[in-house]
Amino acid sequence: MLRIEKLTKTFGAATAVNSVNIEVSEPMMVGVIGASGAGKSTLLRMLNLLERPTSGAITFEGREITGLGGRDARGWQADCAMIFQQFNLVPRMDVVSNVLHGTLFRTGTLRALTALWSEADIRRAIAILDRLGIADHAGKRAEALSGGQQQRVAIARALMQDPKMILADEPIASLDPMNAQIVMDALRRIHDEDGRTVICNLHTLDTARRYCDRIIGMRLGRVVFDGTPEQLTTDMAREIYGADESFSEAATSTEIRETEGPRHAAMAALAREAEARI
Ligand SMILES: Nc1ncnc2c1ncn2[C@@H]1O[C@H](COP(=O)(O)OP(=O)(O)O)[C@@H](O)[C@H]1O
Ligand SMILES: [Mg+2]
Repeated sequence: MLRIEKLTKTFGAATAVNSVNIEVSEPMMVGVIGASGAGKSTLLRMLNLLERPTSGAITFEGREITGLGGRDARGWQADCAMIFQQFNLVPRMDVVSNVLHGTLFRTGTLRALTALWSEADIRRAIAILDRLGIADHAGKRAEALSGGQQQRVAIARALMQDPKMILADEPIASLDPMNAQIVMDALRRIHDEDGRTVICNLHTLDTARRYCDRIIGMRLGRVVFDGTPEQLTTDMAREIYGADESFSEAATSTEIRETEGPRHAAMAALAREAEARI
């Protein structure tokens, strides 16, 4: 499905990603971990063509990606939607319009200028928001929502692209533990229910262990671990992060607690309410 071969990116004298090989042969949820500066973001950005590799190749379903330009590159960017730590929404625009922007990769920018969305697109956008439990916020400005809600809007915008893969670059790094859990649950559910591959850069180990089928550990631009959460021993984790401060921080921060029952029930009630309104 996805094959990354000897992928390298240098910035001047610095090598951000160093001859990385990764093969994803079936849909899965992959977590990429590593200390700050390990090359996680650069790797994802190359997958999405936000950054061009210095050398190496990316192929998806047999098609070479790295050389794509123009319309083909935009088509690929629609196929692998990206989610960022800072949400990257248009703050003063309403939520549903932010989600509808997810169609622009496929339809071009004319729609953005004229803001003419088809009724079918609007319905689909609201259905996706509903699936993420935030349809009742559809008419609000994005900036009026909490961080966790905004990240779910960003996920909705990604789903609007109907992507084959979702790439998430530290999607929960700006969120409190409860919202972090809601966002990770949403990503996991999208993989489980839709069969989409999710590749998620995560700063912390515990989240990767809990949510991902496979963990890739990066250090200084190289892949130093590639296996299941079970295979990721404490010693190996220490090697990924370096046996210093960053290890204990990575292992313990962004702790996600078990969901309390009532909170789940409240979310379900909100979702039902939103559904009734549509
Ligand atoms: N646009 C850039 N220009 C110069 N150096 C960069 C750029 N992007 C990333 N780097 C460098 O590449 C290395 C990897 O960065 P990054 O991919 O952001 O790591 P991570 O996401 O794991 O923190 C770092 O040393 C960083 O300073
Ligand atoms: Mg990063």
